[in-house]
Amino acid sequence: MKIDGRPYRSIWLDKDGRSVVVIDQTRLPHSFETRRLVMVEDAAHAISSMVVRGAPLIGATAAYGVALALAEDPSDANLENAITLLASTRPTAANLRWALEDLGRRLRPLATDERVAVAYRRAAEICDEDVAINRAIGEHGLTLVEEAADGKDSTVNVLTHCNAGWLATVDWGTALAPLYMAHDKGITVHVWVDETRPRNQGAALTAWELARHGVPHTVIVDNAGGHLMQQGMVDLCITGTDRTTARGDVCNKIGTYLKALAAGDNDVPFYVALPHPTIDWTLEDGADTPIEQRAEDEVLTITGRDEAGQETKVALTPAGSRAANYAFDVTPARLVTALITDRGVCEASRKGLLTLFPERGGEASSS
Ligand code: MRU
Repeated sequence: MKIDGRPYRSIWLDKDGRSVVVIDQTRLPHSFETRRLVMVEDAAHAISSMVVRGAPLIGATAAYGVALALAEDPSDANLENAITLLASTRPTAANLRWALEDLGRRLRPLATDERVAVAYRRAAEICDEDVAINRAIGEHGLTLVEEAADGKDSTVNVLTHCNAGWLATVDWGTALAPLYMAHDKGITVHVWVDETRPRNQGAALTAWELARHGVPHTVIVDNAGGHLMQQGMVDLCITGTDRTTARGDVCNKIGTYLKALAAGDNDVPFYVALPHPTIDWTLEDGADTPIEQRAEDEVLTITGRDEAGQETKVALTPAGSRAANYAFDVTPARLVTALITDRGVCEASRKGLLTLFPERGGEASSS
């Protein structure tokens, strides 16, 4: 996507051919800064501190993290240490484990002097594949937006939660890709952007992305969506997902489930967009998804820019109050109208997923 006319991805190999550059998402929307990742520890820290975030980008960063580790030392022990370190950064996104398993499978059989080049090559491929995957998601999702626009001479209002835009991926995004394409095609789209407490990925990142691309949008507090749906002000919801089970349960940013409940109660279609590496074919029941719990501080405080342009962190709660910070929740498949994947749109069920991924038929268990 373009920032001020210049095309960007969210991660790229530096000119030195060894270190990796990412956009520091903790600095947005007030400041656009990049970070250089030189060691595997930098990649691990970028993921755990959410300099990079979003399931597909976490996977891509981990892949480059393995390459950075091997550039230091391509031994078996260092490869395993790097994979263990990177796997421990965040527990929920399926793409992290997917990328590490992919790299591990390719690199373990190789001689140590072959590993570095293969690791960098594969990390770059994962990035390129992610772009192609998300473009395909965008094209499939566009048909749903077109259907919603059909016969309507007014704006198509879409609600999204968290950030499943290009910042969460290598480019295009998942949930936002169809909206960028619809906007580019001349369909009048307006996006209701859930602020997405506590880290405000909606208010900070989705709003920033949409503004850069010129897509009309309005930021709303997380509790507003149900009211807007009751008032007929939402035509459809599209969110991303960090892990989708073989039967179509979707785990996504905390609060997604409540939006799906409200959508179901108001007959608003609730779509979930996902790249195939987000599907965890080993899990049936979404309740078995590991749910990340993050630091209390993210709930107890908020950081923003004051009127003088100074970044300030302020307390929100009385001294001594404790906070719980569950980062994700699970929306059962029955509340999902359809899944938008890179292979097409399907019912959120094992049967639906297997129509698009028949080669996985042997893996999904049969409940
Ligand atoms: O905690 P985050 O910001 O990494 O969570 C991101 C989300 O929940 C996204 O919706 C999800 O990764 C899908 S992004 C394509």
